[in-house]
Amino acid sequence: MRLSGFTVAIDGPAASGKGTISKAVARHFGFAHLDTGLLYRAVGAKVLDGQAAQAAAEALVPGDLEDDRLRSPEVAQAASRVAAVPEVRAALVDFQRSFATRAGGAVLDGRDIGTVICPDAQVKLFVTAHADVRARRRFDELLGKGIETTFEEVLADVQARDARDMGRADAPLKPAKDAVQIDTSEMEIAVAVEAAVSLIKAKMAGS
Ligand code: DC
Repeated sequence: MRLSGFTVAIDGPAASGKGTISKAVARHFGFAHLDTGLLYRAVGAKVLDGQAAQAAAEALVPGDLEDDRLRSPEVAQAASRVAAVPEVRAALVDFQRSFATRAGGAVLDGRDIGTVICPDAQVKLFVTAHADVRARRRFDELLGKGIETTFEEVLADVQARDARDMGRADAPLKPAKDAVQIDTSEMEIAVAVEAAVSLIKAKMAGS
């Protein structure tokens, strides 16, 4: 696969900070950004509505990514379940790859961007944090949105998704061999963003 632009692949578990880092990096460099989790969430939402997973993935259109329900914990769990279906993953590959190769640069964040979708990405980051730190962040975020839940519930949710996303046979969550790891457990997200920006600048200067 040849990349016509500059591709940044950012993978990691739920609430690791990868979404915030991806948005900040895209804004900094003027790159387009694709949150690939939204693709799986959109398929998950359709399955909750009674559709078959593979058919829903094959019929996905960009407008489906704007559904307001996609951020809910129920849809997140449904997304993690449909993401284990190889036919669902296969149906979403072309859209992600054509996004990645657009001129002008792209940032994609997800679970398998550096390993499967864009193995030739110029920069690969793997963003992690301890599960309890991630659950605390997600809990605060949900409270902020007025969604009623408990910390224990959110932690159980995060752990269930981690286990499913890391344990599946097809494109499991794992760092690419050439990914730079950033642990945000005890790091301000702004510091992680700075680290990512410097790394990308260094790659751009060298390539
Ligand atoms: O990043 P997120 O929390 O929005 O992702 C929702 C689910 O989608 C996640 O639990 C696993 C799946 N996913 C995936 O399997 N591969 C991706 N590239 C992105 C998300």
